[in-house]
Amino acid sequence: MEARDRDAIVELLSTSDPWLTLGFTRADWLAAFDPVLLDREVYVADVGGLAAGIAVVRPSYMLGDYLNLLAVAAGERGRGLGRLLIEHVEQVAFARAKNLFICVSDFNRAARAFYARLGYEEVGVLRDLIVAGRSEILLRKTIGPFRQ
Ligand SMILES: CC(C)(COP(=O)(O)OP(=O)(O)OC[C@H]1O[C@@H](n2cnc3c(N)ncnc32)[C@H](O)[C@@H]1OP(=O)(O)O)[C@@H](O)C(=O)NCCC(=O)NCCS
Repeated sequence: MEARDRDAIVELLSTSDPWLTLGFTRADWLAAFDPVLLDREVYVADVGGLAAGIAVVRPSYMLGDYLNLLAVAAGERGRGLGRLLIEHVEQVAFARAKNLFICVSDFNRAARAFYARLGYEEVGVLRDLIVAGRSEILLRKTIGPFRQ
């Protein structure tokens, strides 16, 4: 991600669920991307010069990496961009560790189906993590145990 991607990414995130339901505002995203997200690895999917998708990774998390954020612009969904982004993240993550973890909101049925299709297992439920009455589901994809 480069600073020039910020406006498109903030627009994408501040108009999209699950973050609307979870209470994240445009101000939150502007503050987070100021002008880019520090201390994370951030990849952007470029469609015709415009940032149409984003993946944010936090390395070194529980014998693996943690995918903080994955989103594709509403008008570009269902065309393979999400797969492209996550497969890129997997390539990077599995070159250095054995696990990739993600959280998905329990009400986000489309994303849960997407991650299941890509081989992610639902391994835990984190109740009331962000807002009361909603859970985050912890997902894991692995290429094997730490010790072989
Ligand atoms: C979830 C999201 C990232 C998926 O990206 P996408 O570009 O729409 O997905 P893709 O087109 O790459 O789909 C990849 C595969 O998942 C499958 N898939 C995608 N959405 C699906 C759904 N709702 N139900 C079942 N399968 C689905 C596709 O059929 C495709 O399978 P194939 O490659 O084997 O044919 C995107 O829809 C999005 O940004 N949603 C809103 C934000 C969000 O929920 N992010 C996740 C937060 S944890």
